[in-house]
Amino acid sequence: MKVVAVLNQKGGVGKTTLTANLGHALALTGKKVVAMDLDPQGHLSASLGIFKPPRHGLGDVLNGDAVMQAVKIETRESMLLIPAGISLREIEEFGGNAKDRMHLLQNALSQLPEETDYVLIDCPPSSGLLAANAILAVDEVMIPVSGDYLSLNGLAHLMITLRRFDSLRKTPVKKKIVLSRFVARRRLSQEVLEKLLEHFPGLIFQTAIREASALAECPGVGRTIFEYREFSSSAEDFRLLAQDFIEGNTLEQV
Ligand SMILES: Nc1ncnc2c1ncn2[C@@H]1O[C@H](COP(=O)(O)OP(=O)(O)OP(=O)(O)O)[C@@H](O)[C@H]1O
Ligand SMILES: [Mg+2]
Repeated sequence: MKVVAVLNQKGGVGKTTLTANLGHALALTGKKVVAMDLDPQGHLSASLGIFKPPRHGLGDVLNGDAVMQAVKIETRESMLLIPAGISLREIEEFGGNAKDRMHLLQNALSQLPEETDYVLIDCPPSSGLLAANAILAVDEVMIPVSGDYLSLNGLAHLMITLRRFDSLRKTPVKKKIVLSRFVARRRLSQEVLEKLLEHFPGLIFQTAIREASALAECPGVGRTIFEYREFSSSAEDFRLLAQDFIEGNTLEQV
């Protein structure tokens, strides 16, 4: 089982889009996927077609009031969803002794079905207790980066934060970057890519997810791109990204 946090404290960079669509892409190749909503906004559930926010979910599991098995939802073949649940917000807001509560997610992961291949965790756009739980629980952090300069700034900050957490882990967390709202013809996008290659060679997945209106339309209808526009360029992006993810294909410095 490989556990991955889709993480970036910056809002709107495509974390939820990536979790839902990469998750489904992996499930379609036959891998057993668990998509987990660690964001109290609960957008992942809606993106997967569950519009009425489930009362119970990951919040209850982290509080010790429920087990994963009881809150899981089978959304697609080979794809389970662990919804956020109403009480997830309280964990972030009334953290209690934060140090004692940073390993809640790590402990809860042992409850997942043994046959699980990949766990993708959709993180909130913040760097509080929930994000800390994710960083300590996962093998790898996948960071979606949209093509603007402020993203680069935020990324440098995030990398420093991740390094700080390494002292609390057995091994350093692996880091991967995904270009998440890429516009190839925009000079700025190209410049961001060049800067990323300069600073993080070997960490950037080969396939970029292009900006596309079909992707923006998906959450509104509660479908992934494979259900909404199976033959679109966006579906192709996610198919290729899933392959990169499985094989570890990254860009090297040019
Ligand atoms: N490649 C893309 N092309 C077009 N629209 C996109 C793309 N990726 C994401 N979006 C849209 O941008 C908005 C933000 O994306 P998303 O919700 O995935 O970001 P997020 O990082 O999860 O946001 P938050 O920080 O609020 O959780 C959504 O409306 C989504 O549909
Ligand atoms: Mg989100």
